[in-house]
Amino acid sequence: MLSTLLLLSLLATARTAPQTGPIEQIDCQRDSVKSCSCKSGAALTPLRRSWNGDLQDHFYTPSRDEQLNYVGLGYKVESDMGFIATATPGDCAGIVPIYRMSHVESHDHFYTTSYIEMLNYLRSYYIESTAIGYCMSGPGCGLIPLHRLTNWTIVDHLYTIDDAEKDRAMQGQYDYNGIQCYVWSSLDATDC
Ligand SMILES: *[C@@H]1O[C@H](CO)[C@@H](O)[C@H](O)[C@H]1NC(C)=O
Repeated sequence: MLSTLLLLSLLATARTAPQTGPIEQIDCQRDSVKSCSCKSGAALTPLRRSWNGDLQDHFYTPSRDEQLNYVGLGYKVESDMGFIATATPGDCAGIVPIYRMSHVESHDHFYTTSYIEMLNYLRSYYIESTAIGYCMSGPGCGLIPLHRLTNWTIVDHLYTIDDAEKDRAMQGQYDYNGIQCYVWSSLDATDC
């Protein structure tokens, strides 16, 4: 009886396992990213997300004050998208800056960890590149993917850690661009 229940629950688990998303299972004992040493000293802070439906723009910042400024401009506060680093520990290989740029006429904000892509966008009407913080270029313990999606009709870039939201957005609203980088899922020091 007990083993039948166990088998059934294992089957149920297998059937409800995520079908999509390139989330890799990391063996924390052999974590090559060393995300634990990255986490300590990284001064993690939430990646705060806001949305303005009139301007059709998602806006991301680690700064509570900056988010409140955008609320004053008509943006609504949405869920945080994990945690990003505001400092770069010396022993943390794979930590990369998140560059933010804006497109004035279309009210778009674009974020990338690629220096080359940042330069390309600066040549294509995007301005004011600033590094808002840091994330990890590869998967690791305590890290989750930050997905990037684009809709060029409304000119909006959407970033999410929520696989279900990513899947919904891909149903005719946004094109999927892939994983921009990996962010920390919590401030808890014991999950890595
Ligand atoms: C972008 O959004 C608009 C408005 O919601 C929609 O009509 C269009 O099909 C979307 N484009 C893509 C590429 O999904």
